[in-house]
Amino acid sequence: MATTEAAPAAKVGAIPSFEVTVRIRRYDPERDSAPHWEDYKVQVHGTDRILDALHKVKWEQDGSLTFRRSCAHGVCGSDAMRINGVNRLACKSLLKDLDPSKPITVEPIKGLPVEKDLVVDMEPFFQSYREVMPFLITSGHEPTKERLQSAHDRERFDDTTKCILCAACTSSCPVFWTDGQYFGPAAIVNAHRFIFDSRDEGADLRLEVLNDREGVWRCRTTFNCSEACPRGIQITKAIAEVKQALLTRKV
Ligand code: SF4
Ligand code: F3S
Ligand code: FES
Repeated sequence: MATTEAAPAAKVGAIPSFEVTVRIRRYDPERDSAPHWEDYKVQVHGTDRILDALHKVKWEQDGSLTFRRSCAHGVCGSDAMRINGVNRLACKSLLKDLDPSKPITVEPIKGLPVEKDLVVDMEPFFQSYREVMPFLITSGHEPTKERLQSAHDRERFDDTTKCILCAACTSSCPVFWTDGQYFGPAAIVNAHRFIFDSRDEGADLRLEVLNDREGVWRCRTTFNCSEACPRGIQITKAIAEVKQALLTRKV
């Protein structure tokens, strides 16, 4: 009697694992007078991300480790942190791109108050965001159909629509570090998104907000923000365009 045999499963090479030391800046305001570093040895694969390594520490070694994350796919913007001294999203940082022979340092983003471990208080960041009025401002009655816009006009602010409000840019800006009063690149990016939207009528209001002494003129064009942005937004270019709009506006 003829039998049908299942084809042998294709051999999949096992992905080699290796050990890394993750050096995390820990701070618990209820226990610690100051932040300190702690090392954790974790078995990982090159295809793992820093977020996976942090999960391993939290789930297998120390459940008190505190950090934010949600989507795990570079969309929500909640897990910006300083990894080996550079602002990145933990969920988009592959371990294979970091040198496993040295401890990988993970610390909170700079310039915002640390609440616990890798979690910072984002309120000052969102305060600046709210102040630039990141919503469409129009006059007159609500339209009865869609507000039309040409592809060319849409292109004008396409880049700045990509922001996920992760704060990697603002917290990498040396001007923001000095006193935290500067509006910061993220707020300017989100103002840009509406200032150059042909359907919006609030550009002058936003430009006036950014003409403040803590506004766009404090930018020293250091480019840290553009390098830090996980969405690849040309932030410094957007800031320059806002400055130009202020210089050429008719008041
Ligand atoms: Fe994050 Fe880029 Fe938006 Fe800054 S501009 S908040 S780095 S996505
Ligand atoms: Fe800061 Fe970016 Fe300007 S890092 S100084 S906002 S170019
Ligand atoms: Fe959402 Fe990383 S967890 S962007």
